[in-house]
Amino acid sequence: MTAYAGKHQGGSAVARYQRKLDNRIDRLRHGEEVKLLARYAKGAVYDCTIGTGRFIGLLPQVTSYGGMDASAEFVSYVTSANPEVAASVRDLTNGIDEPDGTYDCVICLRSLSGIGHLPTIVPAMVRVTKPGGLIILDYGRRPVEVKLDGHTTVLDGEDLDGVLAHVDASLVERHLCDAVLTRLKRAPRLFRLINGRLGRLLPDAALNAVERIAAPIWWERQILVLRRNDRAVPDLER
Ligand SMILES: C[S@@+](CC[C@H](N)C(=O)[O-])C[C@H]1O[C@@H](n2cnc3c(N)ncnc32)[C@H](O)[C@@H]1O
Repeated sequence: MTAYAGKHQGGSAVARYQRKLDNRIDRLRHGEEVKLLARYAKGAVYDCTIGTGRFIGLLPQVTSYGGMDASAEFVSYVTSANPEVAASVRDLTNGIDEPDGTYDCVICLRSLSGIGHLPTIVPAMVRVTKPGGLIILDYGRRPVEVKLDGHTTVLDGEDLDGVLAHVDASLVERHLCDAVLTRLKRAPRLFRLINGRLGRLLPDAALNAVERIAAPIWWERQILVLRRNDRAVPDLER
């Protein structure tokens, strides 16, 4: 198992992940992701890293939600809280063990940066999507070195554009984000200010507006919405 997958394992994995997201900046980022997903995700959705299932029940056009994750604790948390969700413990670096053309929308958010293996995973996401269906994934702008459990790991180090050039899908929207909010999060004093009582003087709408204005220049992450190409099979009888 990679150090990245290992970060989300163990008895306290769910509580740790929820604590990490329990701050104003992450709530705003989550809210923007929900808005984007709610516009596009419909029908049967497959989430390649279901995590704690933070999108389940928030996407009005979705009729069924399922997925996978390498963390047994996350999968068991999601399926106990949502018995209607089919989720299994699997390693995405081995591809996706689902039939071709099954889902209306296949998503993978906040994961590929650390998991890597884009040449395996992205074509697999396209393969299990129905022709005409959507694939939604995110990736960082440039490689970053981080320490995970004492080991140096590179996030966002692969050639996403090179992989996308070879999949049978076309770009629908490129949403640029993590321009100001994530930078604020990395500055401990500003982070405390935004989360504290004084920070309430700056309404959420204002923070989101600043983020939107800055994103075209300062973005650190992009969320891509792709559509699997839907080529009609020629009718040779005619
Ligand atoms: C930052 S969390 C994101 C979870 C969820 N997609 C979200 O947006 O809240 C990263 C997720 O990737 C999962 N993960 C890491 N390596 C994996 C792998 N090789 N195969 C499947 N899931 C993996 C982790 O268990 C974790 O749930």
